[in-house]
Amino acid sequence: MKILFLDQSGKPGGAELCLIDIAKPYRQDCLVGLFADGSFKTLLEENQIPVKVLTRKEIEVRKKSSVVQGLRSLGQILPLILTVAKIAREYDLIYANTQKALAIGSLASFLSNRPLVYHLHDILSPEHFSETNRRIAIALANKFVSLVIANSQASKDAFIDAGGKSEIVKIVYNGFEPAKYKVEKSEVNHIRQELELDGKFVVGHFSRLAPWKGQHILIEAIANFPDNVIAILVGDALFGEQEYVSKLHKQVRDLGLENRVKFLGFRDDIPQLMTACDLVSHTSTSPEPFGRVIVEAMLCQKPVVAAKAGGAIELIDHEVNGFLTTPENTQELTQIINKCLKNPEQIASIAKTARQNATERFDVININQQITQHIKSIMGL
Ligand code: UDP
Ligand code: GLC
Repeated sequence: MKILFLDQSGKPGGAELCLIDIAKPYRQDCLVGLFADGSFKTLLEENQIPVKVLTRKEIEVRKKSSVVQGLRSLGQILPLILTVAKIAREYDLIYANTQKALAIGSLASFLSNRPLVYHLHDILSPEHFSETNRRIAIALANKFVSLVIANSQASKDAFIDAGGKSEIVKIVYNGFEPAKYKVEKSEVNHIRQELELDGKFVVGHFSRLAPWKGQHILIEAIANFPDNVIAILVGDALFGEQEYVSKLHKQVRDLGLENRVKFLGFRDDIPQLMTACDLVSHTSTSPEPFGRVIVEAMLCQKPVVAAKAGGAIELIDHEVNGFLTTPENTQELTQIINKCLKNPEQIASIAKTARQNATERFDVININQQITQHIKSIMGL
């Protein structure tokens, strides 16, 4: 089957990293069309997945935009719609991986008469999107999409609550290669030495720097501990959140934590870094649609504490294979860090269960089979 994948981003966020795994089995016969250039394109090339940047013009629809802005951008995107429709005629199916890809893909699907799949990586709720954006997404999905693949029950529920048709939605979690997350002890020792982590209790945070990812909550919690408890913040501002980055640095200075909070920027050695941590934290202040970092920590056999909302609740069973805390509640997070610090044996067994559970539930081979089955069924195959 020949698939034209579409994604608006040139940068590797979670939705884009997920797409690499989905496109891989189709790489002989697919194309990933991007609406921006960037390091995501390089990652696709490294995975031998055909990729083409289809426009260099920025599509100016923000997550919180108005109707007028929406209409203005329609004029801008017309050439792109025509380009995509032309390419789509050489493929059997269009697979939109982001919201702007849904918008372009919908009209291109209509013009090229090709079925459209929408991979929903977002929770379409007021916390994350303006009413206009939600309405547009739902209207397009209901009219043009044959299959919505939701990355969690939480994303599916929000789609239906916003007016989306329930009969077109299937839940498929992100898939992972468990072997990638088994890291040699020598590599971990090397990282711990290089980053001067020896003798410390290290809490890791592995998200892009953005206000709703809540790195400030972890920094607040770290301030409640003595010098041997430190945090590493792995990730960068991918989508223009520079102001938040400055705020985080100021918070660290104000709390006198310069030696205890390390900003490592965007890294491509996540399994190694996670394995070098004692605890992985997830602190999103709005419901996380899925939360790849949570599963990755589980696969690394690390205890993970996540904000109890959205997809995280589907991934973690509190005190069985990880920990859940009320979003934005620094006190609860502090308690869990303390518990992990004081009870290494109990948390080691929780982390062991986490790896087993995650390996069983999120193996990429199984996940890709589910996606192929769903696609085949809408194609009548
Ligand atoms: N990630 C990465 N390098 C970094 C920080 C994060 O490769 O420096 C990866 C991380 O391992 C995960 C993804 O980015 O696979 C983030 O996905 P998640 O679903 O957690 O959040 P999103 O950013 O998509 O909302
Ligand atoms: C999005 C979501 C994240 C999810 C990822 C992969 O980026 O924000 O929660 O894990 O997509 O589905």
